[in-house]
Amino acid sequence: MEKKLLRFTVNEAPYEIYVNPKTLLVEAIRDHVGLTGTKRGCETVSCGACTVMVDGMAVKGCSVLAMQVDGMKITTVEGLEKNGKLDPIQTAFLDEGAFQCGFCTSGMLMSAKAFLDETPKPKDEMEIRRAMEGNLCRCTGYNAIIRAIDAVAKGNYREDKQ
Ligand code: FES
Ligand code: FES
Repeated sequence: MEKKLLRFTVNEAPYEIYVNPKTLLVEAIRDHVGLTGTKRGCETVSCGACTVMVDGMAVKGCSVLAMQVDGMKITTVEGLEKNGKLDPIQTAFLDEGAFQCGFCTSGMLMSAKAFLDETPKPKDEMEIRRAMEGNLCRCTGYNAIIRAIDAVAKGNYREDKQ
């Protein structure tokens, strides 16, 4: 099958790559761009391990073709850290022990980040739990993850406080 030219931005760096039209976004990020923080899990749009941000929205990287994000801005877990400083959501995950094996963590972080960008003050814990429904974790249970997101929402991890 003839390859297509995909132009997109990943973590603020522009890329022009040739991909098979059937290439998934998660494959383009891992195999073509070389950023392997984004995980390939179920590949059936169930687990959320492949979640990245596309123009600021959380999107499962196995749910869209790479060519569907032509011209768009992608943020992966590698793009959360800025100038050597972790994003507040990353620090909160560390402090709360919100992971064990870590396989789900990059997807969790990206969903949490997109949620908090859009909803900086969630009205209760249920709103956070609902936002994270698409991300599955087989190790930790979810309480520490929800606590970490809640702590950021409450202002405990503002960038100027780290
Ligand atoms: S790998 Fe995409 S949702 Fe599981
Ligand atoms: S920390 Fe292992 S799957 Fe979530």
